[in-house]
Amino acid sequence: MWAVCCTVFLVLSGSPAHAQQGRIACITCHEALGGSLAKPITDWRGSIHYQHGITCDRCHGGNAKVEVGNVLQLSGPQFAAIQSGAMSKANGFVGKPSGKQLFAMCAKCHPASVGRYAGSVMGIAYLQKKGGPSCIACHQPHRNVIPEVPQVCSRCHKDTTGFTQIDPMNVTDASITQLSNIRIQLAREKTQGARPSLAPRFAGEIGSFQVGLLAFGAIIFLFLIGYVVYAIFEKGDEK
Ligand code: HEC
Ligand code: HEC
Ligand code: HEC
Ligand code: HEC
Ligand code: HEC
Repeated sequence: MWAVCCTVFLVLSGSPAHAQQGRIACITCHEALGGSLAKPITDWRGSIHYQHGITCDRCHGGNAKVEVGNVLQLSGPQFAAIQSGAMSKANGFVGKPSGKQLFAMCAKCHPASVGRYAGSVMGIAYLQKKGGPSCIACHQPHRNVIPEVPQVCSRCHKDTTGFTQIDPMNVTDASITQLSNIRIQLAREKTQGARPSLAPRFAGEIGSFQVGLLAFGAIIFLFLIGYVVYAIFEKGDEK
C-alpha cells in the first residue's frame, strides 16, 4: 500500500520536473547557439506549458533524446548529424506550422478549443487565408497567454464595442447578431440622453420613483372615472 502511494506521489510530483530537467536535446543545442534560436526557451520558461511539463517536442515533434554533447565543440558534420537526428521529418518534426498543421499541433491537447475556433467566422477566415488571426496571433507561440480583450482585437478591428460580451474563440452568426443588438441598444441610449445610462446605477431610486409615478397616475385615473360617473348622474338628474 505504502509502496503504491509513494510511487504515485513520486510520479505526480516528479514527472514534470523530471521532463524539464532531464536533458532535452532541443534546449541544450538551442541554448548554446543563443540569439533568436534561444529566445523561444526564455519565453517558454514563463509559460503555463512549462509549468505542466509540456516540452518542445510535445508541440514540434522530433527526437528530444538524441545525445548532443558539447555543442560548441562539435565538428560541422557531427553537428549536422545531431541536428537532423533531432529535427527530422521522419520523427514527425514540424518547424513553423500554419493553417491546418497549426490546428493539428494544438489539437493534440486542446481538441475542444480548436474545434470551437475552427468552426468560427474568424477560424474559417484564417484557414481560407482571408486575414483571420491564427491561434498564436492571440496566444503567442511560446508564452501562450490568455490575451486581453478587446486590446488584442484592436489590431484588426477599429470598433471593438461589445467584444468583451461575446466568445472570442467562437464568433458565429449568433454572436454577430448579439453584437449588433448591443450596439443598437447603446446607440439608442445615447440619443435618449443621460437618463438611461443612469438607470442601472440608481436602479433602486428609479424603482421607487416609478412606483410613486404609478400611484400618482392611478389616483388621477380614479379621479377622472369619478368625474365621468358624476357627470353622467348629473345629466340624468337634469331630466
Ligand atoms: C544540434 C543542434 C540542434 C538540436 C539538437 C535541435 N536544434 Fe532546432 N535548430 C538548430 C539550428 C542550427 C536551427 C536553425 C537553422 C535551421 O533551421 O536549420 C534550428 C531551428 C529550429 C526551428 C526553426 C525551424 C524553422 O522552420 O524556422 C525549430 C522550430 C527548432 N529548431 C526546434 C527544435 C526542436 C523542437 C528540437 C528538439 C526536438 C531541436 N530544434 C533540436 C539546431 C538544433
Ligand atoms: C505550445 C507549443 C510549442 C511549444 C511547447 C514549443 N514551441 Fe516552438 N513554436 C511553436 C509554434 C506554433 C511556432 C511557430 C511560430 C511562428 O510561426 O511564428 C514555433 C516556432 C519555433 C521556432 C522558430 C522561431 C522563429 O521565430 O523563427 C523555434 C526556434 C522554436 N519554436 C523552438 C522551440 C523550442 C526550443 C522549444 C522548447 C523550449 C519550443 N519551441 C516549444 C510552438 C511551440
Ligand atoms: C502536449 C499537450 C499540449 C499541446 C500540444 C498544447 N498545449 Fe496548451 N496547454 C496544455 C496544458 C497541459 C495546459 C495547462 C492546463 C490547461 O489549462 O488545460 C495548457 C494551457 C494552454 C493555455 C492556457 C489556458 C489557460 O487557462 O490559461 C493556452 C492559451 C494554450 N495552452 C494554448 C495552446 C496553443 C495555442 C497550442 C498550439 C500551438 C497548445 N496550447 C498546444 C497542453 C498542451
Ligand atoms: C481572436 C483571438 C483568439 C484566437 C484566434 C484564438 N484564441 Fe484561444 N482564447 C482567446 C481568449 C480571449 C480566451 C479566453 C476566453 C475564453 O475562454 O473564451 C481563449 C481561451 C483559450 C483556451 C483556454 C480554454 C478555452 O477553450 O477557453 C485555449 C486552450 C485556447 N484559447 C487555445 C486556442 C487555440 C488552440 C486556438 C487556435 C485553434 C485559439 N485559441 C485561437 C482568444 C483567441
Ligand atoms: C489578425 C486580425 C484579427 C484579429 C486580431 C481579430 N480579428 Fe476578428 N476578424 C478578422 C477578420 C479578417 C474577420 C472577417 C471574417 C469574415 O468576415 O470572413 C473578423 C471578423 C470578426 C467578427 C465578425 C463581425 C465583423 O466585425 O466582421 C467579430 C465579431 C470579430 N472578428 C471579433 C473579434 C474579437 C472579439 C477579437 C479579439 C479577441 C478579434 N476579432 C481579433 C480579423 C481579426
